Amino acid sequence: MQNIRNWFVQNQSAGLKRNPSGSPYARNTKFTVPSKETESVSHYTSVDCLQFSPNCIPSISFVNCPFKKSGANVIDSLFIRPLQIGPLVTRHNLVLAPLAGISDYPFRQLCREYGADLTFTEMVSIDGLLYQNQATYRLLNIRSHEHPIGFQFFGSEPEYFRKVIPQVERFRPDLIDLNFGCPVRKVVGKGAGAALLRNLRQLYRIVEATVRATALPVTAKIRIGWDAENMVAVEAAQAVEAAGAVAITVHGRTRAQGYSGRADWEAIAAVKQAVHIPVIGNGDVLDVDSARAMFRTTGVDGIMLARGALGRPWIFRQILHALQNGEVLPEPDFEQRMEVLEHHYRLMLEEYDEFVALSRMKKHFVWYTHGLPYTARLRDRIFRAQSFSEVQEIFARYRQTIRQHNRPSTRLKQSAEV
Ligand SMILES: Cc1cc2nc3c(=O)[nH]c(=O)nc-3n(C[C@H](O)[C@H](O)[C@H](O)COP(=O)(O)O)c2cc1C
Repeated sequence: MQNIRNWFVQNQSAGLKRNPSGSPYARNTKFTVPSKETESVSHYTSVDCLQFSPNCIPSISFVNCPFKKSGANVIDSLFIRPLQIGPLVTRHNLVLAPLAGISDYPFRQLCREYGADLTFTEMVSIDGLLYQNQATYRLLNIRSHEHPIGFQFFGSEPEYFRKVIPQVERFRPDLIDLNFGCPVRKVVGKGAGAALLRNLRQLYRIVEATVRATALPVTAKIRIGWDAENMVAVEAAQAVEAAGAVAITVHGRTRAQGYSGRADWEAIAAVKQAVHIPVIGNGDVLDVDSARAMFRTTGVDGIMLARGALGRPWIFRQILHALQNGEVLPEPDFEQRMEVLEHHYRLMLEEYDEFVALSRMKKHFVWYTHGLPYTARLRDRIFRAQSFSEVQEIFARYRQTIRQHNRPSTRLKQSAEV
């Protein structure tokens, strides 16, 4: 008997995903299946049939299997597995997205503590580095314990990448990621970011120049097209692969969509079908259910979270725990959120002086209070706060008001001081 997880990982990387018919590959093969969380030790049983859909989404039909009812958990646990990005092998496949102005050391570290394995810097301008812009260079200062981490770059000139990429190796990233998705006018106006989805020849040249300039693994992050009339995800992904990149992230929106509308996971699944390199799915993974659904419907090798982690860095732990153990962890209560927020601020102080830490923290305060009652006034006060101790006082008062409100005998007036 074989361990089902090992079998799945080995055979998937050996190219089983190319099964065109979707017919069962392993009918009547006996597998050992980890029962819930006891994967490493004793509780193994066997299943009689492991089936794959054409894009390698596994399903198991249980015959004589005592864990029939927990079948979904067995499948879910297969989704969490290492990502092989060239020579780099991650512990698992939950990834924190590059986020301009947000994915600095404190936020990356916080998400890593909650289980994100691979993280990225925000997008960094190749032109800025070429012209020795010190603020741009500062974005590359990572800590020695921040691994694995990818540096993400944007630009439009292959020659600039060729010159600059060797210079950034001394900052010790684990991989170099290329941004072909940024929708911002200032960026696309210069032919960078998502603009390269309209110029696949240039996109190819940028990947090729970068691959030639470094021994580090090179990856790319694309959107699925410029707009609904120009959906080029498959062609772009094939160009990225042909030019030598070893993994690709696909954000399931077009440039025209910006960050609105729903991410098109079908388009992500089509990319997964079309290339041999690992595909990381991105867009609208906001909780455990959507994480599971992204894996199930696209067959991707990993998932990347962006907005779902804002004010909720614990989402990585929730997804890991739910898919590996079949158990959904509760949302942290108010006190626990405050602890995370304070820890986040302490990490900020390791990176910035107090003034900068507080101003960068303000948007996070808003995200941490998402979904709580009476936050309009709270946020207003927080934005005017001059120190972190003032913020703590505001939260303490807010906590008291909430407690009072929750007591059945106490009615909170609409005009209450929060
Ligand atoms: C504020 C903000 C900043 C972003 N910055 C970057 C960036 O620097 N590089 C990048 O590739 N994508 C960037 N993105 C896009 C995200 O990485 C991600 O692709 C997008 O938000 C979709 O994922 P989501 O639905 O999980 O939020 C940014 C998104 C937001 C909201």
